[in-house]
Amino acid sequence: MSKHAVVFGATSGIGKELSKLLVADGYKVLITGRRLEKLEALKAENPQQYIIKQHDVTDIESSDILFKEIIDTLKTIDLVVYSSGVGGPNYNLDWQIEYNTIATNVLGATKIFGLAYNFFKDQGYGHLVGISSIAGVRGNRHVPCYFASKSFMNSYLESLWMKAKRTKNANISVTDIVPGFVETKMATGTTFWKAPLDRATKQIYDAIKSKKKKAYITRRWRFVAILVRIMPAKIVMKYL
Ligand SMILES: NC(=O)c1ccc[n+]([C@@H]2O[C@H](COP(=O)([O-])OP(=O)(O)OC[C@H]3O[C@@H](n4cnc5c(N)ncnc54)[C@H](OP(=O)(O)O)[C@@H]3O)[C@@H](O)[C@H]2O)c1
Repeated sequence: MSKHAVVFGATSGIGKELSKLLVADGYKVLITGRRLEKLEALKAENPQQYIIKQHDVTDIESSDILFKEIIDTLKTIDLVVYSSGVGGPNYNLDWQIEYNTIATNVLGATKIFGLAYNFFKDQGYGHLVGISSIAGVRGNRHVPCYFASKSFMNSYLESLWMKAKRTKNANISVTDIVPGFVETKMATGTTFWKAPLDRATKQIYDAIKSKKKKAYITRRWRFVAILVRIMPAKIVMKYL
């Protein structure tokens, strides 16, 4: 019997590339995102292995309905990946930008994490993966909400990892994927150490297969995180 994965934010970038790797590995993958035409185009590459559900993660109430539909369709779920995310500079603290970032990266993510975790608890097993960011390590004066939202995600995923370790009668894994810069639409404009999408995604998939608690992508960002975490804020703000 094939394994089942659900990928939130599979219309482009990391989520799309990861969905392809999962399908190549024999998974049946339910892909979501707002852009239906992108979901349909991905499904057309391998119609038997993809199921599509158009969904906006900021529509929190619809996530309950969607998750029920997903369970009805797949019956069992081995892996849930949350790759949906938005972020960019917000020099003037425009509220709409901050709100959308919180709605997608914090509220939307927390809702899906909770639905997936509780489903896995009932099912007796499952693997939850969140794509956070190196941005979660410290603050940033240009992109405050994105950095804060990823910090929230780091902390929340670690909490779920701890919870899973103490959950009896269920074998639940939780992985926090922490990318540096990856060649996608989101990283347009950033110039250094940008990992090609295929290399980064392969490392992400390796970390998922190893059920790592936390994985920096590419690996060198782990050392950046250690350094940046202990740096005084006055120095950090010169570079971030
Ligand atoms: N690229 C990098 O350098 C980098 C670095 C660190 C972390 N990350 C993280 O990696 C994740 C994936 O980003 P990416 O680089 O692959 O960028 P991307 O190509 O822009 O992908 C973002 C994905 O999020 C989905 N999304 C955005 N808003 C959504 C919403 N309201 N509802 C449902 N889905 C939504 C998009 O789908 P629709 O627009 O179709 O809804 C798209 O599939 C993000 O969480 C990002 O923060 C990226």
